[in-house]
Amino acid sequence: MIVAQEFLKTMDIFKATVLYLTVVTFAIVDGQSYRAGVVLYKPNPSIYATPDEQLKDNLNLTVQIMNANKNESDIFILPEYALTNIKAEFESARVLKSFSVNIGKVGDMLCTTNGTVSEQNLAILACAAKNNYYIVANLIEEDNNTYFSTDIVIDPNGVLNSKCRKYHIVNGTNFERGPSANPCTFTATFQNQSVVFALLYGTDLVYGIPDASKSDNVIVTAATKNNLPLNISVSLSQGFAISNGVNLIVADYNDVELNYGGSGVFYSNGTSVIAFNAANVPNGNAIGGILIKEIPIKPMSSSSIINVKSTIFGEIPKMNLEYINLPTTFNQTIVEGKHCIDKRCCNFKAELSADSIAPYQWIILQNKTNILTQEADIFFCGLVVSSASSPKLTFKNLTISVDDKQPDVAQTLPIALNQNFLPTNFQFNKVARTITFDKENNIVVLFGIMEILGSPNIGTNTAFIVIIVLLVLALVALLVAFLVWRKRQAKNRRNF
Ligand SMILES: *[C@@H]1O[C@H](CO)[C@@H](O)[C@H](O)[C@H]1NC(C)=O
Ligand SMILES: *[C@@H]1O[C@H](CO)[C@@H](O)[C@H](O)[C@H]1NC(C)=O
Ligand SMILES: *[C@@H]1O[C@H](CO)[C@@H](O)[C@H](O)[C@H]1NC(C)=O
Ligand SMILES: *[C@@H]1O[C@H](CO)[C@@H](O)[C@H](O)[C@H]1NC(C)=O
Ligand SMILES: *[C@@H]1O[C@H](CO)[C@@H](O)[C@H](O)[C@H]1NC(C)=O
Repeated sequence: MIVAQEFLKTMDIFKATVLYLTVVTFAIVDGQSYRAGVVLYKPNPSIYATPDEQLKDNLNLTVQIMNANKNESDIFILPEYALTNIKAEFESARVLKSFSVNIGKVGDMLCTTNGTVSEQNLAILACAAKNNYYIVANLIEEDNNTYFSTDIVIDPNGVLNSKCRKYHIVNGTNFERGPSANPCTFTATFQNQSVVFALLYGTDLVYGIPDASKSDNVIVTAATKNNLPLNISVSLSQGFAISNGVNLIVADYNDVELNYGGSGVFYSNGTSVIAFNAANVPNGNAIGGILIKEIPIKPMSSSSIINVKSTIFGEIPKMNLEYINLPTTFNQTIVEGKHCIDKRCCNFKAELSADSIAPYQWIILQNKTNILTQEADIFFCGLVVSSASSPKLTFKNLTISVDDKQPDVAQTLPIALNQNFLPTNFQFNKVARTITFDKENNIVVLFGIMEILGSPNIGTNTAFIVIIVLLVLALVALLVAFLVWRKRQAKNRRNF
């Protein structure tokens, strides 16, 4: 009897809590936040007769996954290439053609009942979006026998809200470059609240967000093949969100066996939620699942000190990462020191129960390096394990700082990975430009600060302006010389 009463009391508390949480959640959703669903979709491995059948099946399966979560999310984001079963950037034009669609123009109603094969394919997505949610999806777009990696945004009317062709493509692909290096932006309306999103491809992370595309909320569709030490999608995303003070939503191509992936939501305050395996996220299975997070429209303002903390959903991915040697000008195993390259200086200190950090080493470099398939000029101060398989060390404390910010620094990305090549907790001081542990005894394989120096486009413009200024100066000098010469001539003639 008493037990039953206790049980009822517990039930009441439970009900009250559920009611309270529901009210609070609605208040938040109604007020200043939205819910984003990152789709972890692993293309179905079944054998299909034709690319069109594969495309249709992938479209239908993603729609099933989104619909199963349609009341929980306002916008769903699909990874780059997820609908095609191919790593499209390395494919021939013939293969690209077989998976391609014609997209039409912004403002087109895409939820139609008949039309060309392309229109019917797009209608599968658009009719799912209609009355339900926004979709951001990546497709292989065909336009006059030219192929683009194109992100589309479909709104809850089933209408094409935006269309955005990738600009920072990999060298040597059969894709054509999009028209602008500036990422697209689009506006979505959630419960009468407008949110402006910048829409980036993974490769755009290297270039930062130019002023023309500035936004507090950034969506990234990516297909990142991770490799050590500097090309790890989740680590770069985390650094990017902190450095730019944005909410970053990343949908990355999902294939851990081939070292692809790193989807998640990265908040500006250093908190992030990451998933590699579709089966591990709520409602997920081997083919797909959705990671849904609530996101404040205005990123959480944080002090100059950011405590970075990430949560990994489910099973730890087992990647077999390739290790790429960096062209370093400094590699040593001392526990404390300082090293400068021109005006840039790194200060580093490790506390551990040994008097050397071997087999790790400090890497300090300023050079052109390949980041996310893009050639970037970087300055890097960090501690790096010397190969993917070397023994791991436990540090009591590790602190690295970079002296004064030079004017050409486009982004300052704190990056850190644990022994599973996943983000680990650390503290970053944006003002002191220092990265350190927030607690003792951490195992890291990568720890440091990477600065990306002036983006190539800005570089070209600056060089152009410098050349023009020099030309004008040279012309002025010639004119002055000419005038002086003429005056002398006139004087000489008079004297004659
Ligand atoms: C960071 O912001 C997110 C989103 O608002 C929030 O859920 C999280 O608790 C915040 N983290 C910290 C450490 O305040
Ligand atoms: C440092 O680099 C040089 C070559 O640049 C290499 O011979 C040496 O083994 C490296 N030292 C360490 C500790 O890795
Ligand atoms: C920069 O990298 C290139 C190519 O890896 C290398 O040959 C060169 O020595 C490096 N320069 C410096 C200053 O480290
Ligand atoms: C891609 O090609 C351009 C022009 O040929 C070249 O300047 C650039 O360095 C190349 N990028 C990479 C990452 O190889
Ligand atoms: C780690 O070392 C730095 C630099 O020596 C120091 O400022 C910091 O307080 C230390 N942190 C901890 C947790 O001991």
